[in-house]
Amino acid sequence: MSTTALPPSLVPTLGGAYYVDPEIFAKEQEKVFEAMWVCAVRAADLERPGAFRTVQVGRESVIVSRSRKGEIRAFFNVCRHRGAKLCTAESGVAERNFQCPYHAWTYDLDGKLVAAPNLTKMPDIDRVEYGLRRIAVREWLGYVWVCLAEQPPSFEATVMQDVIDRLGELDSVDHYTIGELAPGRRIVYDVKANWKLIIENFMECYHCATIHPELTEVLPEFADGYAAQYFVGHGAEFGEGVEGFTIDGSAGLDRLPAVSEEQDRRYYAITVRPLVFINLVPDHVIFHRMFPLAADRTMVECDWLYLPGVVESGRDLSRSVELFHRVNQQDFEACERCQPAMSSRMYKDGGVLVPSEAHIGEFHAWLTTALEA
Ligand code: FES
Ligand code: FE
Repeated sequence: MSTTALPPSLVPTLGGAYYVDPEIFAKEQEKVFEAMWVCAVRAADLERPGAFRTVQVGRESVIVSRSRKGEIRAFFNVCRHRGAKLCTAESGVAERNFQCPYHAWTYDLDGKLVAAPNLTKMPDIDRVEYGLRRIAVREWLGYVWVCLAEQPPSFEATVMQDVIDRLGELDSVDHYTIGELAPGRRIVYDVKANWKLIIENFMECYHCATIHPELTEVLPEFADGYAAQYFVGHGAEFGEGVEGFTIDGSAGLDRLPAVSEEQDRRYYAITVRPLVFINLVPDHVIFHRMFPLAADRTMVECDWLYLPGVVESGRDLSRSVELFHRVNQQDFEACERCQPAMSSRMYKDGGVLVPSEAHIGEFHAWLTTALEA
């Protein structure tokens, strides 16, 4: 942190090392991503028994799949024999079993070891004990959340509480029926920046006037750098004459039926620690999941979710998708512009936060506490 005294209106940021140092990143993997609930996949992506996706959570590759009975399961993607990576594909359908490509140990969809060459010569092997190691799962908002910790923290007190802290109550998010919506579009961004730069950017709107001309047309109060999500329950209001949350302010799609009068014509943004952002607008939900791969690289998977009837009808979603896609591009470009400077000697002690970014300081305090735990 800075050695020169800061004026009272400014708060220091984290030092540059937090964004580039592989040791700090390794600590974040262990103490944050592998210790907390992380949003892994959209449940509906696993349509039928055997469907799976592999995702990176901290240092681990994780298989998320659907069992024969239709339940969601998650396993470490590590063969119990000699450790080969079991599923190498990003997604697919295991017809009946997962079979290791090395010596063909075979596991059923519940992870139990069911076959292996010469298995009869090993009568004492416990097929559950030597089955795939399970990971805790939870389904919420139509997504599968996983936690690698032996003793997962309370989902309610962490993930759900973050949403309550932003919106005041869970009821308000229920109005958007996120779990029942259908993906109209998914875009995956490969961002060459540290995950915290992406979060910090999402948490503030000080940059909106400079880099988001289209967004500030739709949400004029953002032009003042007013951080809407800082205030509990405060949604940013659409500008006069704006018909919908679209690239040109033209009418959007069908409004989600349970969205209240108060929520209509408003935009809400929620950060769910550590790796999720949710944006709520009257006719759709934009759901971001981040997958940090290295200190300077983060994959961001973003879903645009609409009423199933809207998606099925084949109506044109392009103006709707384009607004936040452009915002994403503008934001990620800004993050990528900051990343190389994080290792500058000039930024060793970090920078400063202005008053409207004060809650980023709270995020830093939360993170450093988690890393020390
Ligand atoms: Fe998987 Fe040998 S490592 S069967
Ligand atoms: Fe932005």
